Amino acid sequence: MNKIALFYGTYTGVTGMVAQKIAQELGKDRIDVYNICCDGDKMADYDYLIIGTSTWSIGELQEDWDAFMPKLQVMDFNGKTVALFGTGDQIGYPDTFLDGMGMLYETFQYRGAKFVGFWPTTGYDFTSPLPLLDHDHFVGLAIDEDNQPELTDERIKEWCKIIRPAFGL
Ligand SMILES: Cc1cc2nc3c(=O)[nH]c(=O)nc-3n(C[C@H](O)[C@H](O)[C@H](O)COP(=O)(O)O)c2cc1C
Repeated sequence: MNKIALFYGTYTGVTGMVAQKIAQELGKDRIDVYNICCDGDKMADYDYLIIGTSTWSIGELQEDWDAFMPKLQVMDFNGKTVALFGTGDQIGYPDTFLDGMGMLYETFQYRGAKFVGFWPTTGYDFTSPLPLLDHDHFVGLAIDEDNQPELTDERIKEWCKIIRPAFGL
């Protein structure tokens, strides 16, 4: 059985709420859920990771992820599977929508991670290039609780279907 962990960073609680919903959808007994503020050091114990962040201060990574960055930048993710999700506000911050998720993608990629869970850009309106894999896909699940809360549950459900096989679930 694969050892799977979800690490999230949150300021007002939105990303934490999304994290719990993802864990619920995938099976709470199969996923260890951690707040990056307090339990980041446990990350090295897992080969299967779900990673979530919000974006703040116009294009900045959530502050607990930011504080963890120096450690992340020297970790080895070769052979590890990572699925990303981000929360943001595409109407308020179209130029920096989900930049935090894009920054984490770059760091995990540089450290050798293999990614799953790319997500179509259909149904979003934004201009930020950072969270994009290509023209049609985000690097991970995109959640906008500020403007599209009614779509969150369905997006989580669909995304979990995509990542399940790669996580052996
Ligand atoms: C001052 C401020 C700056 C923000 N900057 C961004 C941003 O640059 N990009 C983005 O996508 N969302 C931005 N947001 C929206 C938050 O990322 C969004 O509300 C998110 O869901 C909050 O999640 P959290 O409570 O888990 O931190 C900003 C919100 C505020 C209030």
